[in-house]
Amino acid sequence: MSTRPESEPQPAPRPKNTVLTLGEKRRRSEPITMLTAYDYPTSRAVDAAGIDAILVGDSLAMVVLGHPNTLSVTMDEMLHHAKAVSRGSQHALLIGDMPFMSYQADPAEAVRNAGRFLQEAGMDAVKLEGGTPYVDTVRAITRAGIPVQGHIGLTPQSVNALGGWRVQGRTAEAARALLDDALALEEAGCFSIVLESLPYRLGSYITERISIPTIGIGAGPGTSGQVLVIHDILGLYDKFTPKFAKRYADLGQAESAAIEAYRDEVAAALFPTREHSYAIPEEQWNAFLASLGNTRLTGPSEGKAR
Ligand code: KIV
Repeated sequence: MSTRPESEPQPAPRPKNTVLTLGEKRRRSEPITMLTAYDYPTSRAVDAAGIDAILVGDSLAMVVLGHPNTLSVTMDEMLHHAKAVSRGSQHALLIGDMPFMSYQADPAEAVRNAGRFLQEAGMDAVKLEGGTPYVDTVRAITRAGIPVQGHIGLTPQSVNALGGWRVQGRTAEAARALLDDALALEEAGCFSIVLESLPYRLGSYITERISIPTIGIGAGPGTSGQVLVIHDILGLYDKFTPKFAKRYADLGQAESAAIEAYRDEVAAALFPTREHSYAIPEEQWNAFLASLGNTRLTGPSEGKAR
């Protein structure tokens, strides 16, 4: 029962974000916040912090599954993690990242896989990489009632075709091609576009030229919102840190320190103490010993109790 006086205003319940929420924030020029999450506890923390959208990114392949790039993660693995994320979130818009080869081969297969993110994993929308060549795929998925977020610039699933993890759009021609991609994706029905690793002036320019929100990652401060990989902001992935990632904590170091402290305490027989042990009532213990026919035994735990 609430202890608040009747007259005191109750805080407004936080609503569930939808694709419209992101559009409204853009119209009000309020920066949109987005982070990746891949599991239940992280999803709960991100949701509780009031982040607008959670992306179950295919960066999962690298930061959680230990692959060298994003190409190896499968649709079933993405769904497994997306389900955990949706169990941990109540408010954020949930976006499932279409993994490599789940949408490239043909639009009908793309629709089926996008549908699995909503039907099986509780996602609200999907994201896919690529510009103009994917407008038919975007159209087919949105026709099925599934909101699509585009992703252009550095598209990690094309790392081999791009010749590495390179900043995109640094020539006039490449910048023009990215603008054309953004316009084509907007026209095809995307509700938002991720702009990854491109010059900040181009990030701002594309944002001004389209009417749907842009979410930048290494695209400067002029986009409608920002996204980062959560392992990068928490200091949990040290194999590769892109220039655009900012570390807000060093949980990797805290994790190592805790593991080493546990190792040392167990090795020195300092853990567990009584504080972390269960007791048995005295008479039950005596009855147990009596049942063994030897009331003089104390048992091993008694001998080492600290
Ligand atoms: O997979 C991912 O985490 C992403 C973001 C980096 C945008 O696509």
